[in-house]
Amino acid sequence: MSEKKLEFKNGKFKILQVSDPQDMHYVRHSLIKMLNRAYDDLKPDLVVFTGDNVLSNHLLDARFGSGQSGEGWFDTRDRMKKSLKHILQPLEDRRIPFAMHFGNHDDMCCMTKEEIIELYREYSCFVGLCDTYGYGDIGTHNILVYSGDMPKFNIWMMDTSRQNKAEDRCYEGVTTAAVEWYKETSNKLGKLPSFMFQHIPMSEIDDCIEECGKKDEGAVYDYEKEKYVRLKADKINSGKLFEATPGCKTNYGHFDAVKQQGDTLAVIYGHHHMNKFDITHEGVRMIQTPAASFRCYGNSNRGVSLFEIDEANPNEFTYQHYTYYEIVGKTPLNQLSYFIDADELEKPRRAAGAALTFAAAGAVTAAIIKVIRRKY
Ligand SMILES: [Fe+2]
Repeated sequence: MSEKKLEFKNGKFKILQVSDPQDMHYVRHSLIKMLNRAYDDLKPDLVVFTGDNVLSNHLLDARFGSGQSGEGWFDTRDRMKKSLKHILQPLEDRRIPFAMHFGNHDDMCCMTKEEIIELYREYSCFVGLCDTYGYGDIGTHNILVYSGDMPKFNIWMMDTSRQNKAEDRCYEGVTTAAVEWYKETSNKLGKLPSFMFQHIPMSEIDDCIEECGKKDEGAVYDYEKEKYVRLKADKINSGKLFEATPGCKTNYGHFDAVKQQGDTLAVIYGHHHMNKFDITHEGVRMIQTPAASFRCYGNSNRGVSLFEIDEANPNEFTYQHYTYYEIVGKTPLNQLSYFIDADELEKPRRAAGAALTFAAAGAVTAAIIKVIRRKY
């Protein structure tokens, strides 16, 4: 539990989820503009960074994906610190509490998770991860939200990041020890209504997906399985797949524990940058928030999610995803900024779209001129 007390304000508590901001020590301006505007307009009581908070495996690049301009632990730490400052200082300036857990990219460098967490701890608004963690899983913790002196809501932050170079893996299911800790803590808290944030979807996400035809509604191509897939219609509350969604490959009984405890209103994921959906599987609600990052692959779903809990009825919540344009406005300048900052895969798609629009507009104009000339 955090030493810093979070409380309902005016009967509400608002959590803003920023997933996969995933940038470097020099940052794409549109990400920061979007986050600053979201902090000011949505006025969250807590911001949660749900993994891939820094693109750590590119910190030493001279330019993204190019040769290296730094080396070793000290350069990595220096650039990690600068990368974090872009996303954390705006919160410190506004005195907005924030929490984090890891994604698969955060410790893809020579720094350990413990060393990285020390950099978060330099900010006074950082909450969570303030106590010791005796169950061998450094990222996993919980944060309480109070109504007066009574805890009324709980936030589970589960670590699914685990570098395994021997097996070429960078993430795993929530471990057996962490599942046991979750059950024990949930019981101690009297199964307090909760959210559960974790970077990688649980294995059971696979049970929510079915094979389909190329032209079926909601179909996306799964390159690993070499077939078209989509979310099963009877699971969907809203949204759809924009990319295939593999979950954790190893299952340590996390989903069954969540189902059994019944305290979790929603398990909320990141990692899959383009997906935006809200589904229910065997009574467990699962929400997928797209990435905020402009540096890494994504689509126009880029944005943040806002969750609002009612103090009088903490068993219910509202949820709204806000895209970049919904946050900053679709002005010509913001469109240009998006185009400049969009990742290298999306840029050509947007350029092609703009070229088609331009060509269509040109064809219509030419047709009109032709008609006018015929008349006069
Ligand atoms: Fe990820």
